[in-house]
Amino acid sequence: MRYLSPETSTRISRIGLGTWQFGSREWGYGPSYAEQEAHAIVRRAVELGVTLFDTAEIYGFGRSERILGEALGEDRESVFLATKIFPLLPVAPVVEQRAVASANRLGVRRLDLYQVHQPNPVIRDGMIMRGMRALQRVGLVGEVGVSNYSLDRWRAAEDALDRRVLSNQVRYSLIDRSPEQDLLPFAESTGHLVIAYSPLAQGLLSGAYHRDRRPVNRLRAASPLFLPENLDRARDLIATLREVADAHSATPAQIALAWVIRRPAVVAIPGASSVGQLERNVAAADIDLTGDEYRALGDAARRFRPVTGPAVLPGLLRTRVRRGLG
Ligand SMILES: NC(=O)c1ccc[n+]([C@@H]2O[C@H](COP(=O)([O-])OP(=O)(O)OC[C@H]3O[C@@H](n4cnc5c(N)ncnc54)[C@H](OP(=O)(O)O)[C@@H]3O)[C@@H](O)[C@H]2O)c1
Repeated sequence: MRYLSPETSTRISRIGLGTWQFGSREWGYGPSYAEQEAHAIVRRAVELGVTLFDTAEIYGFGRSERILGEALGEDRESVFLATKIFPLLPVAPVVEQRAVASANRLGVRRLDLYQVHQPNPVIRDGMIMRGMRALQRVGLVGEVGVSNYSLDRWRAAEDALDRRVLSNQVRYSLIDRSPEQDLLPFAESTGHLVIAYSPLAQGLLSGAYHRDRRPVNRLRAASPLFLPENLDRARDLIATLREVADAHSATPAQIALAWVIRRPAVVAIPGASSVGQLERNVAAADIDLTGDEYRALGDAARRFRPVTGPAVLPGLLRTRVRRGLG
């Protein structure tokens, strides 16, 4: 495992573990995953040196936090635990009370990183950051982070907190490279962090899916990315991933992760549906892509033009009807 070294209380692994899947109906992995596999995934992650664990109060309405906290057990205090507040009513007293509830579910005295899950479209960040400041003052929160924030709003949040807002958790993968425009240069030049979510494009970049093998769960069945036409369009990118993977005796998913964390201020938090996936994801931290490989992957990613916008609606409707009939 490789680690980042911003000045935080615990070193942060370049590959973390995302736990939206834990106890989540959307992912549909079922009760045995929530009760057994999730636990085994966390234990193996700790053994392999993963320190960054990401959850949120909204994942499974608290179930993800509970499962993660229980699985970590004694190790809760030695990892870098990140959770998120969903900012529906982001006034200071509510923020403080919600942090306490998250800490209780996780079984910790301190949240290493407390993130604002989404920018509230109506209320600016002054009030929420007042709550965050109070939480930092009493030691319940270590670092403050944001998620899905533009660069301007990230900076404004930092002004409002009057301290560093360590990280911005955003979607970043070979098929969504928008953070490269301004978030990554900002993070790289200022010692901040970008936490890449959906680094495998929710499994698309593993190459496991194609038009005749589409994911069945609710979340991905409703995602335009997994429509047959887009899976067809992704073939060239998957072929490039496979080619690079073969040169490293690795898998396409590992190469997709190695590509994401090649940028110095990025850590990735892939989810995993099995211990085997977690093990492979962790191993991706040690893959060094050559400059040529990195560029070839970027070029293939640029050629991938998924169908988007209203054009996806007929396909999504067909999927719904078929699911309804099935
Ligand atoms: N802040 C936010 O708004 C936000 C939004 C989304 C996610 N997140 C966080 O980011 C984390 C990761 O994002 P994500 O779960 O959306 O997507 P992801 O990490 O890109 O995809 C996870 C899925 O990819 C497949 N997979 C994982 N490792 C694999 C491997 N080695 N080989 C083949 N397939 C593999 C698994 O699905 P199958 O095996 O079923 O194919 C797994 O459930 C979440 O758990 C959550 O913590 C945050």
